[in-house]
Amino acid sequence: MEINGKHCQTIWVNKENNQLIQVFDQRFFPHKISVYDCVSSESIFFAIKEMVVRGAPLIGVAAAYGMYLACLEAKNQPNQNQYIISIAEKLKSARPTAVNLSWAVDYMLKELDSETEMDLKINKALLLATQLKNNDIAVCENMGNFGLEIIKKIAQQKTVSASGVNGTTVNILTHCNAGWLATVDWGTATAPIYKAFLAGIDVHVWVDETRPRNQGASLTAFELGQQGVKHTLITDNTGGHLMQHGMVDLVLVGTDRTTKNGDVANKIGTYLKALAAYDNNIPFYVAAPSSSIDFTISDGINTIEIETRDENEVKYVQGKLNNEIQSVLICPEKTPTLNYGFDVTPARLITGIITERGICNASEEGLKTLFNEKY
Ligand code: MRU
Repeated sequence: MEINGKHCQTIWVNKENNQLIQVFDQRFFPHKISVYDCVSSESIFFAIKEMVVRGAPLIGVAAAYGMYLACLEAKNQPNQNQYIISIAEKLKSARPTAVNLSWAVDYMLKELDSETEMDLKINKALLLATQLKNNDIAVCENMGNFGLEIIKKIAQQKTVSASGVNGTTVNILTHCNAGWLATVDWGTATAPIYKAFLAGIDVHVWVDETRPRNQGASLTAFELGQQGVKHTLITDNTGGHLMQHGMVDLVLVGTDRTTKNGDVANKIGTYLKALAAYDNNIPFYVAAPSSSIDFTISDGINTIEIETRDENEVKYVQGKLNNEIQSVLICPEKTPTLNYGFDVTPARLITGIITERGICNASEEGLKTLFNEKY
């Protein structure tokens, strides 16, 4: 995807120094586009924990590069394997909900285990992390192609039955940022949107601002604008009203962890959008790469650990004022807060899951048709 007309990815190995991993620092988007240097496994841990990088697939890829940096560091450690294992545990603890994090770290550990010679281990780690990165791009693009068919169908139906009231534009509502900034490229929920846009379908996106960190406002609105996709920023409470008035044709979201029977953990507030979509008979699809599916659990509400985050995210809002990025307090100083990062949408409210292998029902039977080997 592009920033200021230049093709970019969210994470890369520095061309002159392959011991330097670089990412866009998403904490200050869209007001400041800067690059954050990850020089150690510690800086990758910091980047994930403090949301320099965020979004389930990108967290996974960043952690894989963190494992590569850990291998480099292990060279100077008395017990190299123990060091690598301790960094793996640390990286996994950075954020609890997105399963891509432990998925990527465990994959790296398993694949590196057989390599005993340290220089070969380091080379292999870099290769594996880069493979995971490239795989993420391919997976997102596949989801885009499958999801495109859903949008195409809606566009065709709207063209045939256009009443004139809401026109033929396909209006898609999305929550948080499940865009290319949450992955390496393309995005999960946005991949079908970009594919539709490129195919010449008239699409328009309702962007939930997504309090408290406003990933919709600061990231999704930014990236859609950069690609030239029509969009409108709305407050988190607006979606239900739009749905009641025929102004939403499709809801498309991503996921941080989906269970083997199709319960979906995603950014806090996703569940309320699913309820409203269900009540208004609007298709609600989740774009879920298999790296975000936790095939070990089935009860999303009772088993997925939901991240709780700093109270200041609720009490303060960050924005640009007088050309500077600033935070302002929006409540009495001592107001108690509660800040859950994610919620779980039960499978019964979900029309379908878009994966890299195709689209299926949000159920164990549905996911089994695509990922039988995991059951
Ligand atoms: O807290 P974040 O910004 O990491 O949350 C991101 C989301 O909830 C996304 O919707 C999600 O990772 C799924 S798709 C990339």
